Amino acid sequence: MPSPAGALLATSDLHVGYAENRPLVERLRPTSDQDWLVVAGDVGEVAADIEWALRLLSGRFATVVWAPGNHELWTPRQDPVQLRGVQRYEYLVRLCRSLGVLTPEDPYPVWTGPGGPVRVVPLFLLYDYSFRPAGTSTKAEALARAHATGVVCTDEYLLHPDPYPSRDAWCAARTAETERRLRDCPPDPPLLLVNHYPLVRDPTSVLRYPEFAQWCGTERTADWHRRFRVAGVVYGHLHIPRTTRYDGVRFEEVSIGYPREWSRRGHPRGLLRQILPAPASPGLGIVPSS
Ligand SMILES: [Fe+2]
Ligand SMILES: [Fe+2]
Repeated sequence: MPSPAGALLATSDLHVGYAENRPLVERLRPTSDQDWLVVAGDVGEVAADIEWALRLLSGRFATVVWAPGNHELWTPRQDPVQLRGVQRYEYLVRLCRSLGVLTPEDPYPVWTGPGGPVRVVPLFLLYDYSFRPAGTSTKAEALARAHATGVVCTDEYLLHPDPYPSRDAWCAARTAETERRLRDCPPDPPLLLVNHYPLVRDPTSVLRYPEFAQWCGTERTADWHRRFRVAGVVYGHLHIPRTTRYDGVRFEEVSIGYPREWSRRGHPRGLLRQILPAPASPGLGIVPSS
């Protein structure tokens, strides 16, 4: 259990566009009035839904830090907010600021509670089709394989990269800019990187459809957990909640997932994952009382 002095908790993939997921979000409560919450993307698709969830959470947790998922960046036809690409991202950043939620565009906050100090770094990097299926060596080949097998991410139709020519070009720009910012961070305190996608490819090896990995990150970040002084990595997107270690660095996949997923397997790791202080047993999550 978290100490009375507060805990840094994490979740992702709230997908509040599904009515069944809203009661889960309503159950997300801090364990003390000093808890921070990290939200690693895929809150929802429609701007009003995203606002509903982030407003609820920002009213409960001392600090909420958000990194965008691919779903927030969709422009669904039914959304009155029809902004695309960078303009949509900037709209969401403004929305977060109006709620007091921290984004990748803000100075990185430092968690000084139990397990700290740690600099909390929300990232917005996207993906670039470099996690390609075996036997393919270009983005075109990877996409062709996906279309042939029928495993095509909806991003191809709803996540517009405007004004960039492609999602991978947007990813390249974001990655370069973020890398510069990380290089400028002092070595102390260490970083807690929060990204919608795993920074390394390894976690995608357990995907049911390997063709889907091309929408799950970028090789550009493969060594970030070694190059920078990283205390841990929080990610989502895969909807495979678990804890793994790469080169000794703790990676936490903290997704809640779709109703069709959690109705089958439940939430054995809880709805909120305790990141700091690092739990003695990494198998334990926090299941808020209903
Ligand atoms: Fe998701
Ligand atoms: Fe996602």
